[in-house]
Amino acid sequence: QAAAEATLRSPICCVLGHVDTGKTKLLDNIRSTNVQDGEAGGITQQIGATFVPTSALAQRTAVINRQGRLELKVPGLLVIDTPGHESFSNLRLRGSSLCDIAILVVDIQHGLEQQTIESISILKKRKTPFVVAINKIDVCYGWTPRLHSGFRASFKNQKGHAQKHFNELASKIVLQLAEQGFNAALYYENKDLKKTVSLVPTSAKTGEGIPDLLGLIVQLTQRWMATRISFKTNVECTILEVKKVQGLGTTVDVILSQGSLKQGQTIVLCGLDGPIRTTIRELLMPQPLRELRVKSNYVSHKVVSAAQGVKIFAKHLESAVAGTPLYVIDDNTDESRIKEIEEKV
Ligand code: GTP
Ligand code: MG
Ligand code: NA
Repeated sequence: QAAAEATLRSPICCVLGHVDTGKTKLLDNIRSTNVQDGEAGGITQQIGATFVPTSALAQRTAVINRQGRLELKVPGLLVIDTPGHESFSNLRLRGSSLCDIAILVVDIQHGLEQQTIESISILKKRKTPFVVAINKIDVCYGWTPRLHSGFRASFKNQKGHAQKHFNELASKIVLQLAEQGFNAALYYENKDLKKTVSLVPTSAKTGEGIPDLLGLIVQLTQRWMATRISFKTNVECTILEVKKVQGLGTTVDVILSQGSLKQGQTIVLCGLDGPIRTTIRELLMPQPLRELRVKSNYVSHKVVSAAQGVKIFAKHLESAVAGTPLYVIDDNTDESRIKEIEEKV
């Protein structure tokens, strides 16, 4: 039994879906931030990353976990936000390639839309497990908000016509998912987690259903993906963005999916004119519950362990290529392995 209790890393959860279904707003609700308000035209144009520590998960799931049945074993959750606008399918591909599990966000009034279908086909191709957040439940006729409540407590509290409207809209989505080849059920009625997609009703405006959503993601990753999310020392790391930071220089924002990065380590990256070999000068992270893509007071770290979104400062990063892997070289890496890495990048 002891061997099975491996150290877990934070699972990586990607948020996907059609434009304006409320992906960023859901994260804003979880973080208590206003990132969405600051976006040009209210449209996300980059991949984001936010670390949700276990303390925040515990706090947010408390209302649905009075009996303490949900045991939090993960050190947190790394949530990847993606754009839903049709022109960013490359970023949806990149975001989803990094994740262990996904939340597909659907607007309850609109049902499945074009980029919902596109996202489903990406998830199918990669065999990525996912849950569906049926978002904006607060728009159902005569909905009485119950801030930050678990969905079931809130639903019980609704008048008949609000419940009826919700049921009608949710049934439509179940039918549309069936057309895509998926059985789906409200998560608490789902008897077969392996064959049936779980639906979680949410509101990014009122916070209803968000405890359920976080609880479900933690439960699914801990229960079904323990091997995949066990901590390993081999570094797996992908470049999200190459960015100039005033007063510092060119940096790369990366997702560290496995292993640890350390200040002073030698890294090899893919550059436009061939491999870049350089040394990590600074490992910068936003505070927990803050978005990596939003400029903030980054905190410098000596060591960072997966999974995390990290900003790396080093020399020669100007020609680094987003979307490519980053490799670590140490004293034990022999020349032939370095050659091999440099040929790869
Ligand atoms: P893209 O990243 O551009 O694809 O959009 P998104 O999916 O991140 O949606 P976003 O968070 O930008 O929200 C789109 C609009 O829907 C905003 O005006 C939000 O205020 C609104 N919205 C999001 N969630 C909810 C919700 O639960 N209820 C209501 N009433 N409005 C919501
Ligand atoms: Mg967004
Ligand atoms: Na939007």
